[in-house]
Amino acid sequence: METLSSLTTSQLLLLSLLSLPAFYIIKRAFSVSTAVEGADKSSADDKDAQPKSIMQPENLDLSPPSDAPYTLDALKAFDGSDPAKPIYVSIKGTVFDVSKKEDLYGRGGSYNIFAGKDGSKGLGMSSLKEEDAVPDYSDLSESDMKVLNDWHGFFSKRYNIVGRVVDLPGAPEEH
Ligand code: HEM
Repeated sequence: METLSSLTTSQLLLLSLLSLPAFYIIKRAFSVSTAVEGADKSSADDKDAQPKSIMQPENLDLSPPSDAPYTLDALKAFDGSDPAKPIYVSIKGTVFDVSKKEDLYGRGGSYNIFAGKDGSKGLGMSSLKEEDAVPDYSDLSESDMKVLNDWHGFFSKRYNIVGRVVDLPGAPEEH
């Protein structure tokens, strides 16, 4: 009968090398689940704890929301092409002032497609296509609708609300 002691040194070395990947996979799985539990715990225990994210943190110093009426046509003036004007993004008819993120929403910015308009449908679809950045989001799937609502929440916690779109097509009044 062959026992561990009868294995040659090189056979033992090979055995331990082969078990290394398994060890790391198990270790990683454990550390990931611990990290997730840790994140849940810290957010429940400490409301100020922000999870590490590439997204900007919440802005706790927002102005009271304004109900100023905007038509979709009037919004076009706030698309970032005039540096003298603020930049507005509307989501489900709520108009946000995103001027502080001119790098993203201004001319040439990655998300300029959403500036000066209501592009709710594109946000819900996670699409940066011009043809998707339209206000009528009534035919979004349930999961895309959730994405859109999450974006509305994200913007609400970071940007001042400066008005409401009064001629939003398709979507039912929700606000
Ligand atoms: C390869 C794909 C993508 C990458 C690498 C990416 C990367 C990023 C990064 C790094 C940020 C944080 C920017 C910052 O706060 O400075 C961000 C924010 C954002 N992304 Fe993307 N993104 C991608 C695709 C998309 C798509 C398809 C959409 C369409 C809905 C989208 C919409 C947004 C929006 C609305 C923000 C929030 C910006 C804000 O803070 O106001 N992204 N993305």
